[in-house]
Amino acid sequence: MFFIDTANLDQIREAKDLGILDGVTTNPSLMASEGITGKDNVMRHYKTICEIVNGPVSAEVISTDFKGMIEEGKILADIDENIVVKVPMIKDGIKAISWFTENGIATNCTLVFSAGQAILAAKAGATYLSPFIGRVDDISWDGVGLIKDIAEIYSIQGYDTLILAASIRNAKHIVDSAKAGADVVTCPLSAILGLLKHPLTDMGLAQFLSDHKKANG
Ligand code: E4P
Repeated sequence: MFFIDTANLDQIREAKDLGILDGVTTNPSLMASEGITGKDNVMRHYKTICEIVNGPVSAEVISTDFKGMIEEGKILADIDENIVVKVPMIKDGIKAISWFTENGIATNCTLVFSAGQAILAAKAGATYLSPFIGRVDDISWDGVGLIKDIAEIYSIQGYDTLILAASIRNAKHIVDSAKAGADVVTCPLSAILGLLKHPLTDMGLAQFLSDHKKANG
């Protein structure tokens, strides 16, 4: 499955028009970079994204305490049936994910950097787990290796939580995550479009078109 990791509506529409888009993830930094500020504007923006894409849309809570996360998560979940409440991997976050699970609200556990954190999130019943592979690579560790470890553990233990490879930087990350057992990748548009690129495709197409022109005038 393909999610786009952005709050930019034009990019969401462009990915959707390719016919390959299954969902969207956002985070507070992505919302801020689009200039979406203030509670009402943020809510409206999530609603607009849900109107564009018929699939899961992750909307992140800002609170870091249990009570605040539950209040925010309930409001977010009311925006649209496709909203997935994104919760950070902290102690109160795990508690909140357990509560959302018991109350039928889909969750995405974010800011995951270790297999241990992945076990906790799955035990709490998270719908999606977001290991940030690009940020792991940034500190010279092995992001794709982390996906592999989590996929192995989830398969041995029979956990239902879906692995959503996040912090994708390029097309290779997408291919390697798919190979390593990620159920979903969430990527910037540039990485999705990067999958198209191969010099032999360009050369082959140029040759086909020139042969056709020679033969047909
Ligand atoms: C995940 O859902 C996050 O929004 C995202 O993938 C973070 O990626 P970054 O490391 O490029 O900020």
